[in-house]
Amino acid sequence: MMAKHGTDEPAAHSDRRGFLKATLAGGLAAAGATTVLAQGKPAAVAPPGPNPKNQPPKVADWSRYLGDGVTDHPYGMPIKYESHVVRKTVEWLTADRQSSINFTPLHALDGIITPNGLCFERHHGGAAEVNPVDYRLMIHGLVDKPLVFTLEDLQRFPRTNKIHFLECAANSGMEWRGAQLNGCQFTHGMIHNVMYTGVQLKHLLNEAGLKPKAKWLLVEGGDAAGMNRSLPLEKALEDTIVAWKMNGEALRKEQGYPVRLVVPGWEGNIWVKWLRRIEVGDMPWLAREETSKYTDLMADGRSRKFTFYMDAKSIVTGPSPETPLKVKGRNVISGLAWSGRGTVTRVDVTIDGGRNWQEARIDGPVLDKSMVRFYVDFDWDGRELMIQSRAHDQTGYVQPTKDELRKVRGVNSIYHNNGIQTWLVRSNGETENVEIG
Ligand code: MTE
Ligand code: CO
Repeated sequence: MMAKHGTDEPAAHSDRRGFLKATLAGGLAAAGATTVLAQGKPAAVAPPGPNPKNQPPKVADWSRYLGDGVTDHPYGMPIKYESHVVRKTVEWLTADRQSSINFTPLHALDGIITPNGLCFERHHGGAAEVNPVDYRLMIHGLVDKPLVFTLEDLQRFPRTNKIHFLECAANSGMEWRGAQLNGCQFTHGMIHNVMYTGVQLKHLLNEAGLKPKAKWLLVEGGDAAGMNRSLPLEKALEDTIVAWKMNGEALRKEQGYPVRLVVPGWEGNIWVKWLRRIEVGDMPWLAREETSKYTDLMADGRSRKFTFYMDAKSIVTGPSPETPLKVKGRNVISGLAWSGRGTVTRVDVTIDGGRNWQEARIDGPVLDKSMVRFYVDFDWDGRELMIQSRAHDQTGYVQPTKDELRKVRGVNSIYHNNGIQTWLVRSNGETENVEIG
């Protein structure tokens, strides 16, 4: 038996500060304020100042001297001017760094692919360092032939490449009772979108041979948390992938090196990292992470069982608290949308708090259970704005407002908050996380 470590998902039980913030925000809303401001300031990023000596018609320094040789950085890193584009954690959210999270800097990215070094991390027992020569994946239970695969064994099966988003069920979970953290990164950054290379799980299951009673799988990680979840066989056979590469290179240690499960469109928790064991059974296991955690507590005190799908959601990544508007006139509103139930078919954007909506321009690939990038090109006259976005998916589902969500779910939930985000852009361009009350 492996010891089970790990605390609640960070947003689960707010500590004193979280609780105070929630109470404060809730109180303001109850008092009938039109907007509820989030607490805290966005991280200050000081760009290097301009130097007229390097600007036309002068010949800049970088044109006058030779640059660096090629061997300085055998593994390339972003230039120093981009060193603020990093994952960030919120120290007080969790008790320790082994059971913690950091957040993807969504506000600083464009397109739909998250670079490997910027993918948010979520660990329940720290990031295991697995030596690939010792790596094994065991498949047993209701199978004809229990099997143990090495990494090289897995790599001899037919391969697939798929781009999918992974969103933690707790993403935006701090916002159930009102606007909280004043940043796009901290509020919505528990998501990444990556191209995975691996083998479809159905090939491995066919190799082992499923017994007729097989209905559910237990998928288990090899980290100290031994994190495990029950996966319906139907999903395992449909599109689940056993992956060893992300964006072309080996998985990062923190993303589950050497092998993780990719469960397209479903909550991040079931995407088991450092995958070591798959047991085939006829019932769900009702593991810790699908009973006491990762269930949605409803207003009447009952819990929803298995909320696997991540419903359609979108966010404007710029302007945002970290990327305020700087000039009047020509500007670009940029954002991301995704749906766990298929493709995003349309994104609407409003700049007046929902009175008028216009269809955003989706640019770049539109793929199944992947992020899409959208833009609205607009002229800013310097007026205060309330910017929101709203995603539609192929099932006809439309992203709800936070109040619509609360009507169905109450405010006891942590997980699966896909309500519409509002950014208030002040006339000086500063942007804040607010809620329209
Ligand atoms: N798998 C193992 N073995 N251990 C973990 O702690 N965390 C889960 C999931 N898989 C976890 C795990 C959770 S809650 C999420 S949201 C995703 O991994 C996060 O994946 P990432 O770290 O690649 O962002
Ligand atoms: Co998670």
